[in-house]
Amino acid sequence: MTPFATAHGKPFFEYIGNEPKLNHLFNEAMTSDARLVISVIIEYRKEVFEGLKSLVDVGGGTGTMAKAVANTFQQINCIVFDLPHVIEGCEQSKNLNYVGGDMFKSIPSADAILLKWILHDWSDEDCIKILKKCKEAISNKKNGGRVIIIKMILMDSNNLQKEEHKSYEAQLFMDMLMMVHPSGKERRQQEWAKLFYDSDFSDYKIIPISGLRSIIEVYP
Ligand SMILES: C[S@@+](CC[C@H](N)C(=O)[O-])C[C@H]1O[C@@H](n2cnc3c(N)ncnc32)[C@H](O)[C@@H]1O
Repeated sequence: MTPFATAHGKPFFEYIGNEPKLNHLFNEAMTSDARLVISVIIEYRKEVFEGLKSLVDVGGGTGTMAKAVANTFQQINCIVFDLPHVIEGCEQSKNLNYVGGDMFKSIPSADAILLKWILHDWSDEDCIKILKKCKEAISNKKNGGRVIIIKMILMDSNNLQKEEHKSYEAQLFMDMLMMVHPSGKERRQQEWAKLFYDSDFSDYKIIPISGLRSIIEVYP
């Protein structure tokens, strides 16, 4: 049980489902981060979304990332998939839809499955369950279908440059937060690789973006 669940009697995401003010605050915080990250990706790493016809943003919150993708790439049909209380009241548009559900049960099908700031919320065991559901949901496994993860990769503390110490400290704070609120953690590259292979994916590629984040493409 996490410290949050011990203090509040419920896991984090279940608790905020019954607390509209906190739910709104949390979704707003996620929105501001998503706005920054997607603007950097569209400016510098557009190729990540090129060639796709459909994309599901799993745990996509109120849809900031997916809206930006849908607006920039009109040929991509985007679905925001999140818990029903999160997407309640969100408005769909021509190539953007909202679907409520539970990623541990089933994920809508698409060419690419996006996971931004999701897997750090969960234990290795739960991540493997989510990743296996993502693999099932990839519609085009032989022809470019993939999972696109946007996350930080913990730096190697043995090889830090002097100017990287503050960044590493920020990563460790995030790691601690993930142990307290949900039951997750941040991961080093080897830990990520183990998760992918344990979930029956065949390969992965890391594409650095700004600051502490990376894109990891994972192939079925
Ligand atoms: C840390 S937030 C990330 C939100 C968004 N991807 C972003 O980066 O702005 C995690 C998201 O996962 C969603 N989530 C938690 N459990 C879920 C479940 N079982 N099925 C679907 N979504 C879930 C939460 O509601 C929340 O929106």
